[in-house]
Amino acid sequence: MTAASGPGIPAETCVRLFDAARSSESAWNRQPWRFVLGRCADPTFQTLFSALAEDNRLRAHTAVALVLAAVRTTDETGKRMRGTEYELGLAVGGLTARARAEGLQVRQYGGFDRAAVRDALAVPDTHDLVTVVGLRWARPGHVRPAARMSLSDIVFSGRWGSPADLATGKRRFSAESRY
Ligand SMILES: Cc1cc2nc3c(=O)[nH]c(=O)nc-3n(C[C@H](O)[C@H](O)[C@H](O)COP(=O)(O)O)c2cc1C
Repeated sequence: MTAASGPGIPAETCVRLFDAARSSESAWNRQPWRFVLGRCADPTFQTLFSALAEDNRLRAHTAVALVLAAVRTTDETGKRMRGTEYELGLAVGGLTARARAEGLQVRQYGGFDRAAVRDALAVPDTHDLVTVVGLRWARPGHVRPAARMSLSDIVFSGRWGSPADLATGKRRFSAESRY
C-alpha cells in the first residue's frame, strides 16, 4: 500500500503550522519538542507511512503530510526531564488548531513502529517518539462530529464531580469536525 498522490501541502502552510507549534509555552522556555516533516510523498513521508500500523495506514492514505512529534526526555547530564511530553502536547495542540484554520484535518497516530522510525531518521536516544500527526485536506461532506463527554462530565465547580453551572446540558458532541 502506498500513500495517495494529489494536491500537496505548500511550504508556507507548513511554516504557519510549525510557527503555531513553537509559540507554545514550556517550563523554563526549554522548548523540548522536535518535529520531522514528511510531505507527500517524499522519503520522510514514505518512512513514516510505512512504519504506521496496518489499520493506521488505511486511515492515513489520504494524508498530505505526516509529522513525527518527538520530545526531549533527558538533559545534558542524562537526568530524566519531567513534564516534557505535556509540553509537546501543547505544541501539537497549537499546530492542530492552526491546521484546522487552514482547512486541514488532523489525526494522530500513536500506533507505529518506533524502532524503525528511530533508525531510519537517526533520532537520538535523548528523545522519545511520541506520535505521528497526519494532515489531510478537509473534504466537504466528509466530516463527522466529534463524540465527546459532555461538559458536565468534565468541568466541575464547588467540589469534584459537581458540574459547573454552564447550562449546556448533556451535549455529547463538540463543534469540531474529524479526520
Ligand atoms: C497520542 C494519540 C495517539 C493516537 N493514536 C491513534 C492511532 O494510532 N490510530 C488512530 O486511528 N487514532 C489515534 N488517535 C486518535 C484517537 O483515537 C481519536 O482522537 C479518538 O478515537 C476520537 O476520535 P475522533 O477524534 O475522530 O473523534 C490518537 C490520538 C492521540 C492524541
